[in-house]
Amino acid sequence: MQNQKNIVELRNLCKHYQMGDTTVKALQNVNMAVAGGEMVAVMGPSGSGKSTMLNLLGCLDRPTTGTYWLDGADVSQLEDNLLSEMRCHKIGFIFQSYNLIAQLNVVENIEVPLFYRGCSESESRNRAIELATLVGLEKRLWHQPSQLSGGERQRVGIARSMANQPVLLLADEPTGNLDSKTGRDILKLLKKLHAGGATLIVVTHDEKVGAECERIFQMADGRLKT
Ligand SMILES: Nc1ncnc2c1ncn2[C@@H]1O[C@H](COP(=O)(O)OP(=O)(O)OP(=O)(O)O)[C@@H](O)[C@H]1O
Ligand SMILES: [Mg+2]
Repeated sequence: MQNQKNIVELRNLCKHYQMGDTTVKALQNVNMAVAGGEMVAVMGPSGSGKSTMLNLLGCLDRPTTGTYWLDGADVSQLEDNLLSEMRCHKIGFIFQSYNLIAQLNVVENIEVPLFYRGCSESESRNRAIELATLVGLEKRLWHQPSQLSGGERQRVGIARSMANQPVLLLADEPTGNLDSKTGRDILKLLKKLHAGGATLIVVTHDEKVGAECERIFQMADGRLKT
């Protein structure tokens, strides 16, 4: 059985892609546990399986074999609608290229996940403004993404990821598109969320980001190095 303290527990997780006659073993027998409140990094060379792992962790895909417990529930082989419900309620995503909606302002972008959850208009507006303030955008509430700097856009992305009060935040190269000073500011913000109790898994190539995490999982050829 899985340990109750763990938000994420992976047991012998495999992900294989069938390409004609060949099987690509993108993940092979991955075992991993992340406790509530931890901030960990996943690092490794291109093609080592990091994005595949993040897709599974984020309930965007299912493993071929093995078990994934997310916040106490086995989500390894859930059907699509239940998997997306898990994603909606339990996971916050932070992307390298922010993935904001160009036509919406800062507050409206942060409201998107709340809309999908059926929050009332006033409740979601209050929460979005609160989150925008938390990430330091209280003077940019009504700007559209094109009127923001890269670092500010990522702050919107981070605020949006927190909107549903997820149990797990997944970040894919969160500083990848930013200069080093702005990257450090974003890292500080992630650490602030961590200090507030958030559980974070960060995929990164950046040694400095890795160094700020409590543990680093190194991947190579679809396996976690131990
Ligand atoms: N949908 C797919 N179908 C077939 N093979 C895939 C698929 N997605 C990934 N792969 C293969 O699985 C392996 C792992 O890919 P993955 O994208 O997880 O690597 P990565 O560590 O994220 O690399 P990068 O640092 O370049 O983003 C690669 O060999 C890749 O070619
Ligand atoms: Mg990748």
